[in-house]
Amino acid sequence: MNHSNRTFKSWRLKERPLGEIKTTDLELVDDVIPEIKANEVLVRTIYFSLDPTNRIWMSDVDQYMEPVEIGDIMRAGGSLAVVEESNVEGVNIGEVVQGGMHGGWQEYFTIPESDIIKIPKDTGLPLTAFISVLGFTGPTAYFGLLDIGKPQPGETVVVSAAAGAVGSIVCQIAKIKGCNVVAIAGSDEKCDWLKNELGADHVINYKKENALEALKKTCTNGIDIYFDNVGGETLDAALTLMNKFGRIPVCGLISMYNDWSSVGPKMYRNILMKTLTVKGFLVSDYADRFGESLENLGSWVAEGKIKFKVDVVEGIENAPEAVNKLFSGENNGKLVIQTSKEP
Ligand SMILES: NC(=O)c1ccc[n+]([C@@H]2O[C@H](COP(=O)([O-])OP(=O)(O)OC[C@H]3O[C@@H](n4cnc5c(N)ncnc54)[C@H](OP(=O)(O)O)[C@@H]3O)[C@@H](O)[C@H]2O)c1
Repeated sequence: MNHSNRTFKSWRLKERPLGEIKTTDLELVDDVIPEIKANEVLVRTIYFSLDPTNRIWMSDVDQYMEPVEIGDIMRAGGSLAVVEESNVEGVNIGEVVQGGMHGGWQEYFTIPESDIIKIPKDTGLPLTAFISVLGFTGPTAYFGLLDIGKPQPGETVVVSAAAGAVGSIVCQIAKIKGCNVVAIAGSDEKCDWLKNELGADHVINYKKENALEALKKTCTNGIDIYFDNVGGETLDAALTLMNKFGRIPVCGLISMYNDWSSVGPKMYRNILMKTLTVKGFLVSDYADRFGESLENLGSWVAEGKIKFKVDVVEGIENAPEAVNKLFSGENNGKLVIQTSKEP
């Protein structure tokens, strides 16, 4: 099909942000919708994910992937898209697929046959489950907690950014494993949800209470696992109270993404004194085990043991402003942009 008259919008990186992302760091550009080649599909984005790591990808710092180049379409940590044209046998118009690394902050793109992953139909779940708990954030929680944290019944697990996309799933898996869960979050509403709906044993609003003092009161037997989503002062508070042979899965350091100049943890010495295991991980390290995690997460969701929230912001034009909700704490669950209607 000739698309010479049809265009799509995408956000391209214009300048590397200093501190918080400004809308002027990106540019909304119109491009002609590409023609598909043999063995390709053309897809229309329905949702794309906004992630704390977008801020890392915008920076020219040494990181786990190449930074996004100036002028390039902003990378997305996942998307869901509907097939509009297909040159691939067995892939039909109207089917929903994962965007994978092909779909950035953009309305249209193409996917080669080798990278097409269809979203299952008639699951009884909202489509947004496949860009949240059954997308990347669920497996992040699953492998970080189970593979590195190795939770045992009765152990105390502390989770930071606990009401967020990853943290909320960590809290619930830790409860499934019989742990005592202490959830740290930045508002009373988030703390109420964690305690009353997700079953956290203790909650700490770190914007109202000093995290270290609050952890001393709640973790009377010390901390066995600290699932770190934020780094900074919260990591220091947790390090102070870790038990011997404790584990710290380092999932994220969101308190530092806008400014890397802060110094390392003051309680670093406890890694030695308490013979801790502190291990960074990327969910992509576990790509060959995604199936296992999705099977278990899917069962727990179906059984009502895991609940999840998705914060949908409509309109591609709102992406640069919306991504900052992750840093202010205004997001209410997995943050996504919706660019077009579900089929
Ligand atoms: N390793 C991996 O493969 C992987 C994969 C996905 C995500 N991650 C990481 O996991 C973490 C959570 O990501 P997510 O996608 O689930 O986002 P999210 O938790 O849904 O949203 C981010 C939350 O972080 C909290 N936050 C922001 N700035 C903070 C600060 N200065 N101090 C303390 N808390 C702060 C806010 O919650 P409050 O209201 O509670 O402050 C905010 O809602 C991030 O660090 C991310 O980079 C890692």
